[in-house]
Amino acid sequence: MVSRYQPASKTIVHYSANACLLPVCQLHGAAITTVEGIGSSKTRIHPVQERIAKAHGSQCGFCTPGMVMSMYTLLRNKPQPTMEDIMLALGGNLCRCTGYRPIVDGCRTFCAEANCCQANGGANCCLNGGENANESEQEKPQLFDQEKFLPLDPTQELIFPPELILMADASNPQTLTFHGERMTWVSPTTLEELVQLKAKHPKAPLVMGNTNIGPDMKFKGVLHPLIISPIRVKELFEVSEGPDGVWVGAGCSLAELHSLLEKRIPGLPEEKTELFRALIQQLGNLGSQQIRNVASLGGNVVSAYPNSDLNPVLAAGSCVVRVVSGEGKREIPLNQEFFAGFGKTILKPEDVVVSVFIPFSRKGEFIRALRQAPRKEVSFATVTTGMRVRFSEGSRVVEEVSLYFGGMGPTTVCATKTGKAIEGRPWDEETLNQAYDILLEELSLPPSAPGGKVEFRRGLTLSLLFKFYLDVLHKLKEMNVIKEEIPEKLQPLPRDIQPSLQEFQSVPKDQEAHDPVGRPMMHRSAISQATGEAVYCDDIPKTDGELFLVLVTSSRAHAKITGLDVSEALKLPGVFDVITAQDVPGKKTREMFGYEQELFAEGQVYCVGQTVCGVLADTKAHAKRGAAAVKITYEDLPDPIFTIEDAIEKSSYFEPRRVLFKGDVTEALKSADQVYEGKIHMGGQEHFYMETQSMLVVPVGEETEFKVYVSTQWPTLVQEAVAETLDVQSNRVMCHVKRLGGGFGGKVIVTSILASITSVAAWKTNRPVRCVLERGEDMLITGGRHPVLGKYKVGFMNDGKIVAVDYHYYANSGCFVDESVLISEKILLHMDNAYNIPNLRGHSAACRTNLPSNTSFRGFGVPQSLLVVENMVNDVAMALGRPADQIREINMYKGPSVTHYKFEFSPENLRRCWELCKLKSDYSARRHAIDQFNQQSRWKKRGISLIPIKYGIAFAESFLNQAGALVHIYKDGSVLVTHGGTEMGQGVHTKMQQVASRELHIPTSKVFISETCTGTVPNTCPSAASFGTDANGMAVKDACEILYRRLEPIRLKNPKGSWESWVKEAHLQKISLSATGFFRGKDHYIDWEKMEGQPYSYYTFGVCCSEVELDCLTGDYRTLRTDIVMDIGRSINPSVDIGQIEGAFTQGLGLYTLEELKFGPTGILYSRGPSQYKIPAVCDVPLRFNVYLLPDSDNPNAIYSSKGIGEPTLFLGSSVFFAIKDAVAAARSDAGLSGPFSLDSPATPERACLACAMPFNKKVPASEPGSFKPWALNI
Ligand SMILES: Cc1cc2nc3c(=O)[nH]c(=O)nc-3n(C[C@H](O)[C@H](O)[C@H](O)COP(=O)(O)OP(=O)(O)OC[C@H]3O[C@@H](n4cnc5c(N)ncnc54)[C@H](O)[C@@H]3O)c2cc1C
Ligand code: FES
Repeated sequence: MVSRYQPASKTIVHYSANACLLPVCQLHGAAITTVEGIGSSKTRIHPVQERIAKAHGSQCGFCTPGMVMSMYTLLRNKPQPTMEDIMLALGGNLCRCTGYRPIVDGCRTFCAEANCCQANGGANCCLNGGENANESEQEKPQLFDQEKFLPLDPTQELIFPPELILMADASNPQTLTFHGERMTWVSPTTLEELVQLKAKHPKAPLVMGNTNIGPDMKFKGVLHPLIISPIRVKELFEVSEGPDGVWVGAGCSLAELHSLLEKRIPGLPEEKTELFRALIQQLGNLGSQQIRNVASLGGNVVSAYPNSDLNPVLAAGSCVVRVVSGEGKREIPLNQEFFAGFGKTILKPEDVVVSVFIPFSRKGEFIRALRQAPRKEVSFATVTTGMRVRFSEGSRVVEEVSLYFGGMGPTTVCATKTGKAIEGRPWDEETLNQAYDILLEELSLPPSAPGGKVEFRRGLTLSLLFKFYLDVLHKLKEMNVIKEEIPEKLQPLPRDIQPSLQEFQSVPKDQEAHDPVGRPMMHRSAISQATGEAVYCDDIPKTDGELFLVLVTSSRAHAKITGLDVSEALKLPGVFDVITAQDVPGKKTREMFGYEQELFAEGQVYCVGQTVCGVLADTKAHAKRGAAAVKITYEDLPDPIFTIEDAIEKSSYFEPRRVLFKGDVTEALKSADQVYEGKIHMGGQEHFYMETQSMLVVPVGEETEFKVYVSTQWPTLVQEAVAETLDVQSNRVMCHVKRLGGGFGGKVIVTSILASITSVAAWKTNRPVRCVLERGEDMLITGGRHPVLGKYKVGFMNDGKIVAVDYHYYANSGCFVDESVLISEKILLHMDNAYNIPNLRGHSAACRTNLPSNTSFRGFGVPQSLLVVENMVNDVAMALGRPADQIREINMYKGPSVTHYKFEFSPENLRRCWELCKLKSDYSARRHAIDQFNQQSRWKKRGISLIPIKYGIAFAESFLNQAGALVHIYKDGSVLVTHGGTEMGQGVHTKMQQVASRELHIPTSKVFISETCTGTVPNTCPSAASFGTDANGMAVKDACEILYRRLEPIRLKNPKGSWESWVKEAHLQKISLSATGFFRGKDHYIDWEKMEGQPYSYYTFGVCCSEVELDCLTGDYRTLRTDIVMDIGRSINPSVDIGQIEGAFTQGLGLYTLEELKFGPTGILYSRGPSQYKIPAVCDVPLRFNVYLLPDSDNPNAIYSSKGIGEPTLFLGSSVFFAIKDAVAAARSDAGLSGPFSLDSPATPERACLACAMPFNKKVPASEPGSFKPWALNI
């Protein structure tokens, strides 16, 4: 939080800001409050910290300080916020773990309004089918108890430092100059001085919010030797009102602009405020609160982004900028001529924009701002508009019209010809119909235009114009200018987030009070995470002589390396050394499935982003500069392979390819009533763990011993890899993992390779070496989830029974095998999902391409496999013209069942989940209501889907199902537990604490877990496959049971004694108070020859119902409601498990509807950061999000009858995909289209909108495939 004192008004303002974009020099005179400043576990935690933690809003905790500070800042400004305020405040913060619901619920407790009977996450709610609470329901357990929260007392907050007030009040402000290694920063105090500086240094940027300049410097390596900061020039912040409008200082932040416009509206006649309201509308959608708090009006105008949201509205509204330079003052209209090119205006470099004139609208004038963006909030627009129309009084004849668009070329553009065609004509369908054709021609885009989505963007210009037309038409009707019936009004999509339900079972009445198993218990580190005390890898303080490693990666996808010149890099200040393959003392490669992966590319590169060498320097900044100075020359090799189709054509696969079948598919297809062939392409996914790959390798200094501090899911693999690379024994490498800021499968194989590279640097220099990837590097270098193409041929009977399916799965694996073969195996093992299809055959291939190697990702192929399965079922339903849930029900496993790999199981709980989900979601009634809604609504459609999952838990590779633990009891009775699992937010340490507490009959407060370390528990398995608790829990249980048994004679002798007294006595009696525990796991296997096996311990079942509302004109949608019923046996910790369910669902929602990786035609990843790659934000949470744990479910195959839950729910995010598909089908039906249709994943607004077959999109001519080079590849 930034706080500043404003001398003019003698007030203090507080605002949240992104630390990464705030230049320190800009903060002169400001007070900064960080999460550490507002509360501490040593003294007193702040209510915000407490509530987010206790409401279970912190899993891995990496995002938690940001969430806390956004909320804290809101409360400093408004101690009793509304839900809307909260959603706005949190809108700019991302969380990859929780699914946001618990964070929102924790923050909701500060809310002034309670918008529901159970506003605080209670189990029983008036919204749940409308029934009122009865007594037994009131007894339902809750995830947290709001009554126990600390009250918020605004009088207790930190005060603004008085010395800063004195400093600001000082009458004689001085010019400030800061000198850095390569840059100078000057902050003048007067406009005159500013103008002189700019005249002298026209190339020096004026840095206001730094939201344009900052990212360029940070990510593109742009260097500005001189920066001018005009934030103390008061003329830039002046606001004055005249008879025709307001002059707003160019330095005002967008948040200030929003607030000053809002304040003026009530005092003005409505007709005068059209432009103000349009700007407010657009400002609400521009960036996040943090960005709007710092980004300036002048900066926005001058940045001239092609998809700027504000500029089209300012231009359409006839705004004017006032400019000063050495030559004097000028006023320049903000119009088409103003925007000269990409990021360019007609202003001269020495010009300073002082203010912007925002006129009042006139009578008969309507101004609207409309936009469409890849994500509902905090996302640059795909297309954005400012549109103005003026009518003569009482008439529908257009006098003047102004249509500005962003996102349709390198600049903000004006559709002048279209405007001319509308002017002088009545505002009616005929005029508009002609206008569409002109607009389409006028704002044409070449098929390979940067940004892609060409057809969609062109269609959007038409549909946004149509929306404007409709809105104005309704205005004219309201004003009685037109009398005839007009089409329905377009209402915005709903956005009010409702309280949600989390239903779980109470522990048995006779369970001991101290026994925490089965009770909700906060993540054991949540308070540390919420106070900023939690230590992640990169928080480890820098040690003496430490060096930073930055990797130099290939810029070619398929090439020979012909030269590597590091001489320039070595000359740079701070650069210490360059590490290449030659420096590796041991094995230069890592091997998997008989394929080798080089740590450093030597002769040849196989993808863009492959590591070639690494630059070591004293600081990260120096290492980055060094890396940029390394020169690599290449000779391109022919025919790189990027797409799955390319790989199929060239038979480029990793072997073995797998086939699995049961029955006789060929014969069954012949006898089916109908046969349908379909396919679906599913895009990949970036892990986007909040903490990027991080490691620190410290040579101990003797006997080739190394300590590796690393954020990994598999410490043993890192240990092994480092040992092999350095050619030392594993006993010399000690791997420490305190916690991970998220892993999701991305910190297994990749981390072992990066740690090996880092260890080479530490070995060579004999110094500690740290390597922490930046987000862009992480996204470029590390792969993610495999994109998959699934083809199927399905035979079914007219009654809906599916008799045979033949699947072909192709996974884009990238250039190294990694775990791709195992993933393609798991794809086949799940191709039945919940259905008993008598004849089933699957072929699965891992395609070898010239992209970064894809790797494990939560679900390990199952989310891809099942999307294809459910799409097939959907196609059958559409081919038969029947609801998809009926086809699912008809084909679902029933009674004692056996899978296609001859694994016997009972699907009873799957069926129970199905029935309960239908009941809880009120499915039938809502289906009916949706059909009615769709009949009445032309442009918006609703859709609903009900999706089941059957997910196999444990590793199919038997040896990976073992686990170890080490438990020490100290003389004071405290217990230290170590086990093989790593804590990455999934709460495994919390659950292990619960296990130890139950087994030793002591409170959890006596049990501590410090870290995971290869020195205490060796030869561990990865924390993956949803098996962490199952395996490690049993090992911890084993160790605790041993210890408890050892204490038995002492306990029996002194039954009334305390735990501490028994422990003390045991020590005196020389009884060992330390024990190892071990869990062997079942002997899983799968025999691919015989096509049979026992690859899993059991299945976790679940069913999810989601409903969406889709704006067919733009493809925007909202998830109105999601109900999930999960069978997870007897939950060890319902709060942790519900957290996993909600978090995985949300990650799945991202996968299937939002997240798009964009690779250019040369194989380079374009989407390398949060601005290009959109993960779900708080705006994506279903407006009602209910989770129910299936009651009365036992599981004899896992600890305390629980079930693994980390991965299964991810697939249930596809319920949103299928709900969108259902809504699209309704739109298509209006267009006279029926039957199966293709919708690939993710169902982005672009895909959903185009699939709706709206009249506007039909007008856009499709480009002939092959006739142009697309901007991005569909890999
Ligand atoms: C995460 C993020 C999300 C965003 N989302 C959106 C969005 O959804 N929609 C959208 O439209 N924009 C968005 N933006 C862009 C943002 O609005 C602009 O970057 C911002 O308005 C620029 O203002 P600034 O004060 O930060 O400019 P700075 O970076 O400080 O400066 C930008 C440029 O403007 C010049 N300049 C600044 N003030 C003056 C002046 N008074 N006179 C002359 N030149 C001047 C500087 O010399 C510099 O060249 C986003 C940006 C970020 C970082
Ligand atoms: S808890 Fe939010 S990113 Fe992990």
